[in-house]
Amino acid sequence: MTWYPVADLADFAERPVLAREAGGVALALYRLDGAVHATQALCTHAGVPLAGGEVVEGYIECPAHYGLFEIATGRAQGGPVCRDLATYPVRVEGTVIWVEVAPRGA
Ligand code: FES
Repeated sequence: MTWYPVADLADFAERPVLAREAGGVALALYRLDGAVHATQALCTHAGVPLAGGEVVEGYIECPAHYGLFEIATGRAQGGPVCRDLATYPVRVEGTVIWVEVAPRGA
C-alpha cells in the first residue's frame, strides 16, 4: 500500500465531490463534516462516475439511477445498488489530502 497526495482542501471550494487518481486507481473524494473520505470513483451498479453525483446527508447519490452509498463506509443503501463501494484510508497534512491505495499492477 502506498500513500499519494491527491488534492488540496481548497479544491472542495468548487465541487463537493472530487474525481482523482492515485497509483492508477480512480477515486472519488468527499468532504463531510470536516473529514475527507475516499471511495472508488465508479458506481457499482453501472460504472457511472460518482463525482457527478449529489451529496445528501452523508450519502452520495449516483447521478445515473439515484443509487445511494454511505460515504464514510461505502455501504450500498438503496436504489438499484447492492454492492458496496471500496473505501480508502485518508489523511490530511496541512491542506494536502493523501490517500492510501495498492497501486495497480503492484
Ligand atoms: S450507475 Fe449508479 S445507480 Fe446505476
